Amino acid sequence: MELLNRPRRLRGNASIRGLVRETRVSKQSLIYPMFVREGKGIVEEIPSLYGQLRYSPDTLPQGLEAVAKAGVPAVMLFGIPEHKDPEGSSAWDDHGVVQEALRIARREFPDLYLITDLCMCEYTSHGHCGILRGQTVDNDKTLDCLARIALSYAHAGADMVAPSDMMDGRVLAIRTALDREGYTDLPIMSYSVKYASAFYGPFREAAGSAPAFGDRKTYQMDPHNLREGLKEAALDAAEGADILMVKPALAYLDVIRAVRERFDLPLAAYSVSGEYAMVKAAAAAGLIDEEKVAAEAAVSVFRAGADILITYYAKELARWMDEGRIG
Ligand code: PBG
Repeated sequence: MELLNRPRRLRGNASIRGLVRETRVSKQSLIYPMFVREGKGIVEEIPSLYGQLRYSPDTLPQGLEAVAKAGVPAVMLFGIPEHKDPEGSSAWDDHGVVQEALRIARREFPDLYLITDLCMCEYTSHGHCGILRGQTVDNDKTLDCLARIALSYAHAGADMVAPSDMMDGRVLAIRTALDREGYTDLPIMSYSVKYASAFYGPFREAAGSAPAFGDRKTYQMDPHNLREGLKEAALDAAEGADILMVKPALAYLDVIRAVRERFDLPLAAYSVSGEYAMVKAAAAAGLIDEEKVAAEAAVSVFRAGADILITYYAKELARWMDEGRIG
């Protein structure tokens, strides 16, 4: 048989497969999302996110200890306040839940990189990501609040802020406020291309942030659109975003690839709660191998072009890498 090209030659054993591997994953690329709830002495399971825990600021170090031990370099904090109001004012309270968590985390884990999700939906009584005017979210009024929240996170010790609200002009508003107060070196990771996705269901349960009426389609993106995502990314880049993000990840690998090809900024992808919950549920039902499926999904995000993966599987992925089971 005269066959000059035999791709199987490079698949003969683990050594040669390792040599020709095109996508290599590393613990350095992982960010672990964590939920902090106002209160004391709380460590509770999150029913919608099997295996994930909710902490109060005082118990958060227990969770951070595990993250640091696993060698995951960064966490992203989500706050769940005791009191909500239409303006989401507890989000910029200097003694708010995330601010307290930041101070404790900063003191106990000086080397852990602390990112804060920056949004109002966990803090507003109506559950929308901004200030309402009638039944719609008022874009420009919301910008003032976002800038205020960013500053209060910066004061409390955040290393980076990550706006996830999808208001127009928020990166510029936040950058301007940070710079005015001297936080010129604090980076912004923008949820640039964030879709109105049903994959956030378990998160909204975990954070108590489901909208009380309507949906988020007037500010989050239509899942049918790719070019619009490139427009969002271009605006964020022009407004001074340091890192772009695509969210969710698995159902949007084409978007990750397109953003990678068009922009030179570092690119993050968020493998969201629904992606995690699907793997957990299928594994619990005995239908799939959890480790292999979670690892394969993670690799696909890097292969698509992401530099950073935000995932509820961060600690497990780090362990599997340590054990040489994925690489
Ligand atoms: C806040 C926010 C959400 C997520 C991250 N930041 C929820 C939403 O937009 O409704 C989702 C994360 C996940 O599902 O894991 N706006």
